[in-house]
Amino acid sequence: MLMAKKSDALVFFGATGDLAYKKIFPALQEMIRRGILDVPVIGVAKAGWGIDQLRERARKSLEEHGDGVDRDAFDRLMSLLRYVDGDYRDDATFAELRKELGSTKNPAHYLAIPPSMFPSVVQGLGKSGCSKGARVILEKPFGRDLASARSLNTVLHEVFDEASIFRIDHYLGKLSVLNILYFRFANTFLEPFWNRNYIRNVEITMAESFGIAGRGRFYEEAGAIRDVIQNHMLQVVGLLAMEPPIGGDDDAMRDEIVKVLKSVRPLSKEDLVRGQFSGYHNEEGVAADSQVETFAAIRLFIDTWRWEGVTFYIRAGKCLPVTATEVVVELREPPQKVFSGRTFEYGKGNYVRFRLGPDVAIAIGANVFRGRGIQGPQGETVELVISRLPVGEEMGPYGNLLSEAMAGNGLLFNREDGVDAAWRIVEPILNLPEPPHEYEPGTWGPTEANDLIAPHGGWEDPKGAA
Ligand code: BG6
Repeated sequence: MLMAKKSDALVFFGATGDLAYKKIFPALQEMIRRGILDVPVIGVAKAGWGIDQLRERARKSLEEHGDGVDRDAFDRLMSLLRYVDGDYRDDATFAELRKELGSTKNPAHYLAIPPSMFPSVVQGLGKSGCSKGARVILEKPFGRDLASARSLNTVLHEVFDEASIFRIDHYLGKLSVLNILYFRFANTFLEPFWNRNYIRNVEITMAESFGIAGRGRFYEEAGAIRDVIQNHMLQVVGLLAMEPPIGGDDDAMRDEIVKVLKSVRPLSKEDLVRGQFSGYHNEEGVAADSQVETFAAIRLFIDTWRWEGVTFYIRAGKCLPVTATEVVVELREPPQKVFSGRTFEYGKGNYVRFRLGPDVAIAIGANVFRGRGIQGPQGETVELVISRLPVGEEMGPYGNLLSEAMAGNGLLFNREDGVDAAWRIVEPILNLPEPPHEYEPGTWGPTEANDLIAPHGGWEDPKGAA
């Protein structure tokens, strides 16, 4: 196999923006510390700034959002950092960038900017020759429905071929999420029960205890379905449900994830409960009559041999009681109630739990006998914790993603067919006329979400991080 050329410069558009401030500078310092970034880093933005202001911004970003300034790594970053100031619609900006790129042959252009600006930048890169031998890395959201995602892909393909396009879903940069893939296929004991014969249903909860945190304008365009279900949650479903890949290359893995997404039945309004926390309307940038959902619960079905009859439940919301993302794969009960005639208490059914954030864990739930109590013989559900990482020990996803894209590895990125398939699933529930149900901040969303899962008991509420 031909080794992909490593990118010999990293250009990031949106250098003075929020994403750069919160995520990118910390990731760059981390990459330098790990010895995987040693090429010019060129920030581009329209701010009327010079390099000194950008350097100062980088320092503040590390102090506020990274783990502080690491003298050696920071000095190295400063020596690699360049800055181009200019409008993304102006040819002069790209001519200047071309000059700054000098003799580099394979730059990676990272578009950490609002998607409405993607077409101008992509065309600018093409016209100026900056796209030659280059890769392009794009932040989510990728479109706002199937049609807009497709037209964005058309714009991209006029300048870049698919192998040079890296569409970010930062969940795929998380160790905890990739561990679903690894844990499933690096072990033998899971496969015999990882199917409809033993699995009853799968629950995924992405709970956030905070609201929209000053992002009202963005959120009004998104809502929970577009913001996290169409991408992060469906990628998790893909990893949980995929078949073993044929061969280990990136495309073999992505083929299997895409096959899952293509097999998911498009959602209907009966599969969905939308909610909005009370007080959302008072947020800055939010319309007084907004019907945007800050909570969504869905059930979905995968029409394949392995998953026929297994319900996948997903819920995601803002202003819930805790911040935690968790998958619980629930197994069927034993075929016979051997102990019930003897008044043995049954524990819960067996399960596999993947804790995806903010701390990380993989655990298995099993029932053991605890002996005779006052009420008679007692069983208890215990957890075998296979692996655990406390909060903050997981490496940030952006360092992983940028390193992989610059090395030309596509596994952690969405392919065009995957983006299409994910939009196709949610498309029928994107613009429903029914208003969302109101829920109080600090609760688990509208009670209607409980009715959705009632046939399988209730939701497993994840605990907050210890
Ligand atoms: C982003 C969403 O993609 O993911 C946010 O836009 C959300 O609304 C965030 O809060 C959650 O990411 P993480 O890594 O903190 O779970």
